[in-house]
Amino acid sequence: MNELRIALPKGRLQDDALAAFAAAGYDVPTVADLRTRKLVFVRDGVEWIFVKDADVTTYVEHGAADAGIAGLDQILERECTANQPVEFAFGRCRMMLIAAPGAPRLTKIATKYPRITRHYLDAKHLRAEIVPLAGSVELAAVLNLTSHVVDLVETGETVRVHQLEIQDLITEVSPRLIVGKNSYRTNGKRLRELIARVEEGCNANIQS
Ligand code: PRP
Repeated sequence: MNELRIALPKGRLQDDALAAFAAAGYDVPTVADLRTRKLVFVRDGVEWIFVKDADVTTYVEHGAADAGIAGLDQILERECTANQPVEFAFGRCRMMLIAAPGAPRLTKIATKYPRITRHYLDAKHLRAEIVPLAGSVELAAVLNLTSHVVDLVETGETVRVHQLEIQDLITEVSPRLIVGKNSYRTNGKRLRELIARVEEGCNANIQS
């Protein structure tokens, strides 16, 4: 029987994602394993692969991974159609419209989320140019590249230290277990077991 392949995000969510599977009773790669720079590990009948946060949905959507952990930000931006059977309590944050100091008129928005930003502007009947960036997005507003940014706010520290102003909530964001539709059809029994174990692990964590 083939191993299940699970895609985990290498960024901020990595440690909590690993902890979620450990709580579900899986033998997950250790910190020492991850230091080797290998990106694929086979443990406990599962092939764990480590990819950029923004790429988890791509692996799952194309069936190159059976399941993964991805934030709602990536799920919406990539229009990911995978099932989302579990929502996690860790890593929750908010996607916000944030203005440069002095709350200038909305003209340009820098963001890693051009699609979500487009939907937001359309829904509010607002017009602005969207400037796609790959990261450190707040800097765009600080350096007058744009009047605004759309980005995630977790603790609020990045906004605070750059003296930016939060103007609107676009969406609450939480990490989810995502399961590919095709994988679910071909590997349903094992994936249902995986989902049940992860759910149980989450509940055990909440109660402990
Ligand atoms: C994220 C996000 C904000 C920051 C928010 O960036 O894009 O910049 O964290 O967190 P805070 O509210 O707790 O300060 P990340 O560190 O993932 O890097 P990036 O800016 O390069 O995307």
